[in-house]
Amino acid sequence: MSLLDAATAIRPRAYAPYSRFQVGAAIRSTSGAIYQGVNVENVAYPEGTCAEAGAIAAMIAAGDTRIAEVCVIADSPAPVPPCGGCRQKIAEFADPTVKVTLCTTDGKSLTMTVAELLPGVFTAAHMAKV
Ligand code: THU
Repeated sequence: MSLLDAATAIRPRAYAPYSRFQVGAAIRSTSGAIYQGVNVENVAYPEGTCAEAGAIAAMIAAGDTRIAEVCVIADSPAPVPPCGGCRQKIAEFADPTVKVTLCTTDGKSLTMTVAELLPGVFTAAHMAKV
């Protein structure tokens, strides 16, 4: 299954009664396995989680730790980018060269690298004195 197919297939399971903005995400790990996630909102709005976070949680729970590729899809006028927090979450498990493909349900797409999405990323190296 392609990563786009995996993200597209999972998107309808998003729980997004407040924003009505359903997002699907799929990650291919370096082992080749695919992990899917959807956004899960909450009536206490800040408690909601993004699709990317769900896919990362599934990957970690399965015992994989490195991301090889990411795809995110939503019904958006322009390819949907991961939020700032999700960029940092992806960067935790992906090399800067890893490709993230941002998609719309009507076929638009844009592929960016993790480094392009999060220039100046905070890393463990910044804590070298700790
Ligand atoms: N959302 C994601 O799940 N991923 C993104 O990349 C952008 C935003 C979700 C969060 C919230 O449930 C809804 O989309 C509207 O912000």
